[in-house]
Amino acid sequence: MNENRTVKPNPIRDSANKLKLSIFGVNGTGGSFTHHPDRFSGDWDAITRLARRADEIGIEGFVSAARWIAFGGDNHYSGDYHETFAWAGAIAAITEKISIISTFQMGLISPAFVAKAEATVDIISNGRAGLNLVCGWYPPEFDLFGLELREHADRYDYSDSWMEVFDKLWSSDESFALKNEHFDLAHAMSQPRPLQSRPVLMNAGGSPRGREFAGRHADVAFTIPDDPDPKAVKARVEEYREEARQKFGKEIQIWLSAYVVQKDTTEEAEAYALDYIVTQGDDRAVRDMIEANIPNSKTMPDDAIKEMSYEFKAGYGGYPLVGSSDDIARRMIELSEAGVDGLMLIWLDYEGGLEKFAAEVLPQLEKAGLRAPVR
Ligand SMILES: Cc1cc2nc3c(=O)[nH]c(=O)nc-3n(C[C@H](O)[C@H](O)[C@H](O)COP(=O)(O)O)c2cc1C
Repeated sequence: MNENRTVKPNPIRDSANKLKLSIFGVNGTGGSFTHHPDRFSGDWDAITRLARRADEIGIEGFVSAARWIAFGGDNHYSGDYHETFAWAGAIAAITEKISIISTFQMGLISPAFVAKAEATVDIISNGRAGLNLVCGWYPPEFDLFGLELREHADRYDYSDSWMEVFDKLWSSDESFALKNEHFDLAHAMSQPRPLQSRPVLMNAGGSPRGREFAGRHADVAFTIPDDPDPKAVKARVEEYREEARQKFGKEIQIWLSAYVVQKDTTEEAEAYALDYIVTQGDDRAVRDMIEANIPNSKTMPDDAIKEMSYEFKAGYGGYPLVGSSDDIARRMIELSEAGVDGLMLIWLDYEGGLEKFAAEVLPQLEKAGLRAPVR
């Protein structure tokens, strides 16, 4: 059925750039929790302008966030993310090169639905589809679906079973039966048939069990370093990479998520960051998020999560890239030297932020040999 489609490279997997770049939270209101007026609107016209521009300047990935129930109460902007497969189909149709990543919770959505929805995105995009695999950890979302939020280890056991079903649905041209600990399928098959032999897979689980899951299944694993010093980042990245090698004989990419506050001077950037994060920060939404995270996510010790309020408000708990263009380029080069393969970026104002980044930071990364200039 799809014999006339030409499969394109999927840049998160195939780009030769040493430091790959994606943009996160772009199916809605971005990744920062603040009342500052520069926060991304999540308006559909703004999303499509951003997608086209990111595509044009060679950013590797456009990554959605999965959220079914807001933090911070009814009608809070954090609930306004668009559904991530419908969104991906639309982004696929208006872009040419960029990887399009649908984030979703395996505990909420069946592998049969994801195999079909993702194959649809794969066909529309000519092979640029990918998934960010999240187990799910936020109880109100499980209530919404009438499903149980499993205990942490059990969640990953379920997700391993989920992946077995998904991989078989994706790869099999004939119907099959499959029985594992959590699924019992007869005459299973997914059509239309996708183009890629497997979509690009990302995972951001930080617990020991999450890291193992990422090593087993994903192409890209995210880590949240507890110390921003590039030497500490290097040790963390090596640990992650080595774990995937030793346990699964696999090379995986290790990425960080990061928020960017780029101004003409270091002082200006720091003052702007302080204003949107502390003075105008959305403390209530982040308090909700942290309170739900502590019992339900094991990414880091409970005390460390409590201390993360600043980073969550700044940009979804990401690594700080705050300063002038020279400061930011220098730090990105250091992170690359520390072994980081990619950065998933968050701005407060995505459109203005990406433009300034493209004009002043990208050329420095190109000069350092980390990225090829885009013709
Ligand atoms: C960069 C990044 C993006 C994430 N995006 C989402 C998301 O969109 N929706 C969600 O429910 N969880 C999201 N998460 C949560 C994680 O994927 C993961 O489920 C969580 O950290 C708990 O896993 P763990 O207990 O194994 O560490 C994200 C985490 C990171 C670091």
